[in-house]
Formats: sequence, C-alpha cells, structure tokens
Amino acid sequence: MSHERVHFGSKLGIILATAGSAVGLGNVWRFPYMAGENGGAAFIVVYIACVLLLGIPCMVSEFIIGRHGASNTARAYTKMAAESLQASSAQASPSALRRSRALSKAGALIGYLGVLTGFLITGYYAVVSGWCLQYVYASSVGQLKGDASYVTDYFQQFSSSLFMPAFWTVAILLICHVVIIRGVRHGIERASKVMMPALFVLLLIIVAASCMLPGAAAGVRFLLEPNFTALNGNVFLSALGQSFYSLSIAMGCICTYASYYSRQTNLLHSAVQISFVDCLVAILAGLMIFPAAFSVGVSPDSGASLVFITLPNVFNQAFGSWPVLGWVISIAFYLLLSLAALTSLMSLHEVATAFFFEEFHITRGQGALIVTAVTAVIGIFCSMSLGAMPGLSLGGRSLFDVFDFVTGQIFLPVGGFLTCLFLGWYVPKSIVRDEFTNWGTTSRRFFSLYLFLIRYLCPLAILVIFLHQLGWLI
Ligand code: PHE
Repeated sequence: MSHERVHFGSKLGIILATAGSAVGLGNVWRFPYMAGENGGAAFIVVYIACVLLLGIPCMVSEFIIGRHGASNTARAYTKMAAESLQASSAQASPSALRRSRALSKAGALIGYLGVLTGFLITGYYAVVSGWCLQYVYASSVGQLKGDASYVTDYFQQFSSSLFMPAFWTVAILLICHVVIIRGVRHGIERASKVMMPALFVLLLIIVAASCMLPGAAAGVRFLLEPNFTALNGNVFLSALGQSFYSLSIAMGCICTYASYYSRQTNLLHSAVQISFVDCLVAILAGLMIFPAAFSVGVSPDSGASLVFITLPNVFNQAFGSWPVLGWVISIAFYLLLSLAALTSLMSLHEVATAFFFEEFHITRGQGALIVTAVTAVIGIFCSMSLGAMPGLSLGGRSLFDVFDFVTGQIFLPVGGFLTCLFLGWYVPKSIVRDEFTNWGTTSRRFFSLYLFLIRYLCPLAILVIFLHQLGWLI
C-alpha cells in the first residue's frame, strides 16, 4: 500500500503544532523548579544560551532529516543514510566503501532509536498528563481545599492509588487517539491551532493574577534578577538537559513533524520561532508560579511536587479572601497544564503511529490503536509502580523512574549526539546545505555557523552531560 504524503496546511499550523510538541510539562512543571533550584534568572540566561547554541542547531538537524525523508523517523534516517552512502560510494576505495556501508547502517539505527524513545516515553508522560486531568476535576469540585498537610496527603494518596491514576492515563491517551486518527491536518494541526492560543491566554491571565498578589514583587525579582554567583557546572548541565527535553529533541517528534513540512518552510526561521515560543512559555510559567509562591511564603525550590503540592497550597492561601477567584484560577491552571501535556503527548503518539502505519502497511487508525493500547499498558504499569504495586521496580527505582531515566537521561543524549555526528560528518554537505537553504532559495548566512555547531560544539556538549550523568551513576 502506498500512502500519499500529507503536509501541514499553513505556516502557522507548522509553528503551532511543533511548538505544541515543545511546550509541555517540561515548561510548566519542570522549568520553574529547575530555575528555582539553580539560582533563578542566572539559570535562565544559561538556559537561553543553551537553546541558541545547542537546541536550535539540533532542532534544525532533525528538521532536515525529517523533511528530506518525508516519512516516519526510522525511515527518514534510513533514507538519508542510504543516499549518503550512494553519494560517497562513487569514488571510494573498497575499504572506504565498507566503512561507509557500516556507517550507513548505524545512521539508520539512530532513527529506530528515536522511534523507540518516543514510544517508551509516551506511556510515562501520559501518567503525569493524567494527573493534570485529575487535578482539573479535583479543583473544580473543591477537593483541593485544605491546609498544607491535607494537600500533601491528597497528592500522595492519589498518585499511589491503583485505579484513578490509571483511569486518567487511559483517558488522556484516548483523547490523544481521537486527535491522531483524524490525521495530520484535521487532527494535529487543527487541535494545535485551538489549544495553543487557549494555553497562552490562560497563562497570561494567571500570570496577571499572580503578579497582583501582595508581596509578588519578590518572586518577580527572584526570577528576573540574575545572580551569577549561583552558577556552577551543575547549573550548566541541568540547563542543557532541560533545553533538549523542552524542545522535544531526540525523541523522533521533531523529525516526524518536519516530515509534514513543505519545501518552502524555512527551517532555521521555524526553529527560532518555535524555540522563542517555548522559552517564552517557560519564563511566563515562572512568572506565574514564583510571585504567587513568594506571596504566601512558600519556598520555590520544592522539587517536582511543585505543581501538585505547592501550588494547590498557594491557590488556597493566596486567594483566601476571594475564594471564587482562587477556584477559577486553579481550574484554569490545571486546564493549562493538561493542554500543554496533551499537545506534547500528541507529538509523541504520532512518532510511533506514523512508524507503524508506514512500515507495517496498515491504516493510520490501526497504527494509532497499537500505540494507544501498548502505551496505555506501559502507563498503567508505570503508574502502579508509584505505590499500588511497589514491586514494579528495577535496581531500587520504580518503573516510572526507570522510564524517565532511561529515555530522558540515556536515550535522549545518545540520540542527539549521534544525530549531530551523522548529519555533521557523514551526510554529504551538499544535501545538508540544500535542505538548510531550501535549495538555494533562502539565505545561507548561518550555514557555516550551523555546520560548526553540529560538528563540534553540540556533540561535545552532549557528551559532557552524558559522562557527567554516568559519573553520578557509578
Ligand atoms: N517538550 C516536552 C515538554 O516540554 C516534552 C517532550 C519531550 C514532548 C519529548 C515530546 C517529546 O514537556
């Protein structure tokens, strides 16, 4: 069966869908607490530098491979590898040819790694996304009202119980499924065009409410006044890891979405615009959380429990004298979180759906069904490992943490590293240049800089974080 390749319908659709993948729990849930733990604004400056020098080049690289291949991530890498082999085999000696063949096979494998990473992370990401849905429900029926210890217990009991987290995991995967089976234009693009502006409006409303609280200025200062004495090696590594995670790099998502881009899409401009939106949302999320946290005297560096424990407390205390406003804001906040999670989950789901659909010659609906079913099972197990079935662990980590660790800390850097080497050193420069400049029709001003970054700086920086993580392991 051959499939007619679809494209996104508009430039705005491209930006919103890809920014939808990038803007996710990472921005609202992970970024603020990382900034809080690593010195506030100083962290943000380092983070922006990482996005500019490393994130954007890696994103452009995935765009190039995805659009060039116009197919799912595994096949896109395979095609690029095969074409590069062909180009290099013309004047090669037999030994060079053998080496080139081996490298071409290795290149194709990077694509499979991307699909696998995306697939595995979907289930675990769905669990946290499901928590957001539960919190929309809980805040709307007033279940989150209570003192600090009540809110802590609520989260602990909920996240470790058997049924509800599994229910919400499946629910969010089903919502995602419904969008995905409608296809790229009518499903993903249309949903992103509604959800992303909605997310942005909600965000602005909550930022305004948060900044108007008494004593909020201290939180704004904490976020926006750089304190460079807080910077150390760890801060750089956290910023780098966070920038890759936040831009959805090395999970197949960017590459898969780029396969729906047209030949007119300016890849560098798109990467810059998407990264800008992603950074903006992350910083606004900080502006939403810190002023409110400072206003009620809650420490901003409360780790991952920030949005599920600290914030309900903040909503209860900060809006104590305006309970209805507090109620509306907290529903709006969890709705925002759910939307952000959903658009990212869609992109993760699409990686594997496109793979099954194109490689196994089945329909899109069947491909999506396989992905939804398998990731639901993974998600349920991950969720149960947090309390209902503590036996679901490996080497002292719960299954949930294992998935987080293996995908985020191992597969992600390995995939990013290999992609840079593949495109920077193996693929002929002419192919990369043609894609970068849309076959000579757009400016090639930044091409040499881009090539330098993906050849040297990006692989080196990724290697350093990876080794650092291994150092922690030992
Ligand atoms: N970028 C998303 C976020 O910020 C997370 C994500 C990673 C989504 C990888 C898709 C793929 O939450």
